[in-house]
Amino acid sequence: MLKNCFEVVTLNNLLTMKVGDKYYRTIWLTEDEKAVNIIDQRFLPHKFVIEKLRTTEDFIVAIRDMHVRGAGLIGVTAAYGMYIASLEGMQMKDFNDYLTEAGKKIKATRPTAVNLSWAVDKMLEEIFKEKINENKVKKALNTANEIMLEDIEISRKIGEHGVKLIEEISRKKSGEVVNVLTHCNAGWLAFVDYGTATSPIYAAFEKGIKIHVWVDETRPRNQGASLTAWELENCGIPYTIIVDNAGGHLMQNGMVDIVIVGTDRTTSTGDVANKTGTYLKALAAKDNNVPFYVALPTTSIDWNISDGIREIIIEQRGDEEVKYISGLAEDGTIKKVLITPANSNTANYGFDITPARLITGLITEKGVIQANKESLEKIRNQTN
Ligand code: MRU
Repeated sequence: MLKNCFEVVTLNNLLTMKVGDKYYRTIWLTEDEKAVNIIDQRFLPHKFVIEKLRTTEDFIVAIRDMHVRGAGLIGVTAAYGMYIASLEGMQMKDFNDYLTEAGKKIKATRPTAVNLSWAVDKMLEEIFKEKINENKVKKALNTANEIMLEDIEISRKIGEHGVKLIEEISRKKSGEVVNVLTHCNAGWLAFVDYGTATSPIYAAFEKGIKIHVWVDETRPRNQGASLTAWELENCGIPYTIIVDNAGGHLMQNGMVDIVIVGTDRTTSTGDVANKTGTYLKALAAKDNNVPFYVALPTTSIDWNISDGIREIIIEQRGDEEVKYISGLAEDGTIKKVLITPANSNTANYGFDITPARLITGLITEKGVIQANKESLEKIRNQTN
């Protein structure tokens, strides 16, 4: 058991992260089951803010404006958003039309992570199996809960499989510190528990393997510097934040043993869309023979596409993320400051594509596999 951050405390003996003296998941239903609480990630690492989402519109804003983010958590939030939409649907003239419209709006919030549309489609499919509206609402709640529990279990299994890679490196290094580099936040905060890229890290730490994490700051929103660092700090795992462009230098100097990142969408051939900058890390890893792994739930595989560069729509976000940076000011308030000439043009591509040929392996809940069509096809219908 991890000493500082995770403990078995809730439903189904699952782990939750300890923040301060309380245990949390990244998303949970309120007691009356009429709303959903989330951790508003815009304020981390400086403030731990809980936000209550009561309406479909609240969910749309929370996903679009990144109060919640990360592929898995976006999917689970979308699922609960559909449940809340079903409660609203009871007051509408046509329940099914209202739900279908809500689904479209939720799906339109962010294009890259496949879990979002996967979760909305699954919710609609299950809800529409029922004939009576009251039953549709019950089905919506049960399905959202199932999606949430599945996300936790998948992340846990990714840790189980991925930790073997870290163990192997530790053995080869005769127990010396294993240096893992990660980009963005594919952690506890990006899912419901454990995370994907962080899950093998948490599992390794739990086993007593000496580990240290290089955390890419991940401009423009700094998910690495603010979120991954916060998680690791909270768990007592040694880490060092680096600027995004430092990874190549570290790899050239033997300071990285393994790269593990997450993904928002993976093609049926193993190309990966992940936070912008991932591709450059994969290139540097290839050039320096550093193993480059991508951790993913199979729910983030888009089986309909085979060419990541041509077929994945890359989200482009607003220019304020590039022009401004926010942080804790000396007066204790969170402030945004302009870091560019005020009238600069900007381009803000949120993700990039890492081609399968640069990826050493995919760490899934079904095992570690090669990033290619054959290996992916093999696990497609495997039950665990
Ligand atoms: O834009 P975000 O923060 O939602 O980006 C998604 C991510 O967190 C990353 O791309 C991550 O590495 C994969 S999703 C768990």
